[in-house]
Amino acid sequence: MKIDKFKVEEWFNMYEHKALYDLADTCVESLSINELLEITNENPSELYSRKLNYGDIHGSKRLKDAICTLYENQTPDNITIAHGAIGANQLVMLSLIEQGDKVVSIIPTYQQHYSIPKSIGAEVKTLFLKEENNWIPDLNELEMLVGTNTKIICMNNPNNPTGAVIPEKILKQIIQIAKKSDAYILCDEVYRGLEHNGQISKSVADIYEKGISTGSVSKVFSLAGLRLGWIVAPVEVIEEVNHQREYNTISVGILDDYFASVAIENKNKIIKRNLSKILEGKKILTDWLNSESHCHCVIPSGGTTAFVGYDIKISSVDLCKKLQNDTGVMLLPGETMELDGYLRIGYGNNVVKLNQALNLFSDWLKLQ
Ligand SMILES: Cc1ncc(COP(=O)(O)O)c(C=O)c1O
Repeated sequence: MKIDKFKVEEWFNMYEHKALYDLADTCVESLSINELLEITNENPSELYSRKLNYGDIHGSKRLKDAICTLYENQTPDNITIAHGAIGANQLVMLSLIEQGDKVVSIIPTYQQHYSIPKSIGAEVKTLFLKEENNWIPDLNELEMLVGTNTKIICMNNPNNPTGAVIPEKILKQIIQIAKKSDAYILCDEVYRGLEHNGQISKSVADIYEKGISTGSVSKVFSLAGLRLGWIVAPVEVIEEVNHQREYNTISVGILDDYFASVAIENKNKIIKRNLSKILEGKKILTDWLNSESHCHCVIPSGGTTAFVGYDIKISSVDLCKKLQNDTGVMLLPGETMELDGYLRIGYGNNVVKLNQALNLFSDWLKLQ
């Protein structure tokens, strides 16, 4: 299967190891095993005597029960476990999309949501989010694109890179548009839980009978190193996914399953920690935006990233290359997410470094 280069991941491979200040990252400062055990008061002694076999093929009952608590009305039968949200998204697409199917993808987003359907031979239509709409999808445009013959709408809420959270009323209207076409909605909800006002947004899986939610412990739980994600979907979709899954997953590691269960069972404590880090970073970012006349941005209301526009005449790729070369500050060019003229800035990590890096960026902008 030929597939386009994954521009964001390739950018990371090329520039991350050289960065002195990594503002391209989307995680909230990752947890160590010690920190996780301390926050959760978990005693992992039973882990040491466990046989390192394949474990529960579709994920342990403990893990699935914990995931159910992240949703309003899901049961373990509606869930299967994957290698990260990246594995979850891919499994859904390989299970549901066939050559010639029409897919509507709302971008900018994680590139899987348009490049995998394209590689399968689907007809992919893209709806571009716009800054003047606060990065919320234009429903008229969406309705026209979806029409009556779309198989699946792919979206991401809260959104990477813009940090926009779709209001519930709009989400319900998107579902009405999907219904006219009897389309599935695959909503990548990997940042759901990191809404800045603490109001966790509805999952499409809870409010639409053809809604599919993918999630993981990478962002909300700061455990990207576990490589553990999930799919929540109608039972018949889970059956299709599990059929596909035999070919590339078997099971996830039992250590990953265990630590993810511990984290999700303690979701309130970890989300509190992460929201406090995010809000601290967001304050620094907002203060900086207020003083930086070359940049503009819709202040994010969820997730860990902001999509910042700039007014100097240089492509985002060249800007990021030159900035990193001159200062060691790594940003992500909007071009890698199909929108030039923007930069993705992550603000969920070390705030001292964030502050220093933004000041270096401003000094650098003055010299251009
Ligand atoms: C929107 C989105 N989906 C999926 C992923 C992949 O997440 P995971 O680490 O759980 O595989 C990312 C990672 O940045 C993401 O931003």
